[in-house]
Amino acid sequence: MPQTVPWWKRAVIYQVYPRSFLDSNGDGVGDLQGVISKLDYLKSLGVDALWLSPVYLSPNKDFGYDVADYQAINPEFGTLDDMKQLINEAKIRGIRLIIDLVVNHTSDQHEWFQKARDPTSPYRDYYIWRKGKVSLTGREKPPNNWTSFFTGPAWEKDAASDEYYLHLFTKHQPDLNYDNPAVFEEVKKIINFWLDLGVSGFRCDVINIIHKDSLEDGLKRPAAGGQEYYTSTPATHAILKRLHDEIFAPRNAFTVGEAAFVTLDQAIDFTEGDELDTVFSFDHVEHDLTPRLRVNHLLQELVRWQRKLPWNTIFLENHDQPRSVSTYGDENKHPTESAKALAMLLLTLRGTPFIYQGQEIGMVNTPLDDISQAKDPVTHTTYRRARRALFPKRKALKIAMAVGRDAARTPVQWSSAIHAGFSSGTPWMPVHPNYAHTNVELQERDPGSVLSFYKALIALRKKHPVLTNGNISFSSVHKHLIVYTRTLGIETATVIVSLSIRRRPVPKNMTPDDKLLLATHHEELRSDTILQPYEARVYLTKGQ
Ligand code: NOJ
Ligand code: CA
Repeated sequence: MPQTVPWWKRAVIYQVYPRSFLDSNGDGVGDLQGVISKLDYLKSLGVDALWLSPVYLSPNKDFGYDVADYQAINPEFGTLDDMKQLINEAKIRGIRLIIDLVVNHTSDQHEWFQKARDPTSPYRDYYIWRKGKVSLTGREKPPNNWTSFFTGPAWEKDAASDEYYLHLFTKHQPDLNYDNPAVFEEVKKIINFWLDLGVSGFRCDVINIIHKDSLEDGLKRPAAGGQEYYTSTPATHAILKRLHDEIFAPRNAFTVGEAAFVTLDQAIDFTEGDELDTVFSFDHVEHDLTPRLRVNHLLQELVRWQRKLPWNTIFLENHDQPRSVSTYGDENKHPTESAKALAMLLLTLRGTPFIYQGQEIGMVNTPLDDISQAKDPVTHTTYRRARRALFPKRKALKIAMAVGRDAARTPVQWSSAIHAGFSSGTPWMPVHPNYAHTNVELQERDPGSVLSFYKALIALRKKHPVLTNGNISFSSVHKHLIVYTRTLGIETATVIVSLSIRRRPVPKNMTPDDKLLLATHHEELRSDTILQPYEARVYLTKGQ
């Protein structure tokens, strides 16, 4: 592949959610030394970069996505020296570090917000304050009807001044005011600070909603939630363009923008307009469908984006999503096969793939026994609402777990030792009971494991540039079966993935003399005419 192709188009990126990665000191919480101690493992997996979820100082109302100081490390995770060591040790192994940039909002414990509570402070205007609205009956209501992503009004009244501040997430996460040029300058300082320390880029948290338009219009024309006033607005595009031109591009920093409700056309604008390198979009994973329909939705949406957006990010999991084997695979009858088939999809579509920790061993959703084990504020709010609606405890927990984000945030299963080798103390979240047979140590020794399959797929991408840089074309997308080809020069890779629980005929357009590069199923189970449940294969043809 020509060297002009940027590194992130050749890379496989691995997301570390540090609280649940590995605990080095027995306090039950994963930490930076834990990550450092597994760099050789990550190298052996073959990943090129890590996206590290937030490790900033934080009161953990949203587990790090509420930042109290952008230049300090949460002591639970370690120190700034540990962070420097991580960057350095990763670099020695040829692994880059991308960190989360969470600048739609801060924590209410951030010094800026503490000062901003005083209406005369220069920091007041760092946030979005409005007076309440008095209704005809004389009752005071929030300034407009916008709602928080985490349910309830997006406004909280601050007793200190009798005004409301905007918070699109929890009330402990006040939104920053990008109409104030000082906020933009602060953000640049944060970015420079981390680039100076050697990070290679940023995963920009909910970056397409940073500028809020028409707060007053929202009053006159109440709209559901208020999304239309703050999603991918022209002002946000302008801010991102300035950040790109003034800092990201000159400093050669990679950006992946998490983009809420982003449409395909908006994603094209963000990436082709030189604002962000890539975006995380959600059409493929956002649905409220029965298990039978989910897989087809996933495939149809992936294909729609693949066909039109020149460069995608590809992900099936992250710390906000359920485990993919539980959602699109069969965790009971075919856990290994379905994890492998999903891996084939993840690592052979066109774009930059992101693996979420534990996905490489096929971890599945962790069930909780009781609401007291849940940590995510979203799980708790949903549970309370369900209980208020008189759902019995079990049912309320089920509803809350489906909406909340706890199921995929449990500790990485390293071994069959106590607490899956994650911690010598009591883990902050329960470990999935399947750890005795689903863990890294066992899978490292098993050539047929999900982990070995991930390693093989990543190695294949490195060996055959057609799998990274090749064009993509879809031959067939039918219910649970997808066939596509990647082409580069004289090479063509053909990929067949079945996400069906049934056996399926092998699509006709396969030529039998294509060279099989890798398959989910062992030779004895493979046939020229029939695909086993969750069977996936990749072939290579060299033309004249
Ligand atoms: C997206 C993050 O991924 C999620 O975990 C967080 O709760 C919200 N943004 C708010 O920062
Ligand atoms: Ca620890």
